[in-house]
Amino acid sequence: MSGDSDGSLEIGEIDMTKPTATSGSDHPTLYGAAPTGRRVTTRDLIAAKATGEKWPMITAYDALTAQLFDEAGIPVMLVGDSAAMVVYGYGSTVPVTVDDLLPLAAAVVRGSKRALVVGDLPFGSYQASTQQALETAGRFMKEAGVQAVKLEGGARVLPQVEALVGAGIPVMAHLGLTPQSVNQLGGYRVQGRGEDGEILMQDAKAMEAAGAFAIVLEVVPSDLAGRVSRSVSIPTIGIGAGAQTDAQVLVWQDLAGLTPGRPPKFVKRYADVGSVLSTAVHEWANEVTAGTYPGPEHQYS
Ligand code: KIV
Repeated sequence: MSGDSDGSLEIGEIDMTKPTATSGSDHPTLYGAAPTGRRVTTRDLIAAKATGEKWPMITAYDALTAQLFDEAGIPVMLVGDSAAMVVYGYGSTVPVTVDDLLPLAAAVVRGSKRALVVGDLPFGSYQASTQQALETAGRFMKEAGVQAVKLEGGARVLPQVEALVGAGIPVMAHLGLTPQSVNQLGGYRVQGRGEDGEILMQDAKAMEAAGAFAIVLEVVPSDLAGRVSRSVSIPTIGIGAGAQTDAQVLVWQDLAGLTPGRPPKFVKRYADVGSVLSTAVHEWANEVTAGTYPGPEHQYS
């Protein structure tokens, strides 16, 4: 292990003296790696691409789940504008504002110690100009304390990505199904089929050249996602983009079974938290109405 004489670790280095979580491999991983006393960095993610290590990114919107995901070893958390739906109850991501997202992002930063926290720039907060993008991203960095921002779009937001990177703000790009453009796309449909695949490929290369540190690929054909992933040196993070991307992201309420209704095809339900919570609240309400809660053990004398 290299490091400073005081034992602290250098940027990009994982502490190999500490036990790692079970990952199925014999080398330290981004997921579940031992705490190093610092957050995961964009350099760590780019280094993982070089070693072929896959990793998970998850959304988070509050301190408690952020702490839980952080302790589970999730290396990157996204305070997504999906908060529009899962926190604020809107039908799309379009209405959510910077002022809606900033307190959530700040809570996720406070709840976590190790994960790199990415703040999603909402619709209308960066498209107008590079100046607007710089101001919005600056608020996410200063007021919420995130380490990076995400924005949607390819060539049309290239000046914004260049300006943010030039200002020292790490940028995660987002291509394919970009939900903020749902009204232009005509619904939540697969993107990048046929000739559109070449445009997406060019957008990905442009994002890499502009200095983005990662690219979310949402709801695109798996083959295209694989080709893009092999064509850029920065990690690709898939959601509905198949198994060939470098990382995967899901909205936590989707994977945990809290969002109602039939999920999109790409979602795998790993739990039924909705049923667990519903059962718990019913039991409590029944005991309240029956007068059996609070029992003697829940009371002060
Ligand atoms: O807002 C969000 O949660 C996202 C992810 C689904 C990529 O953009």
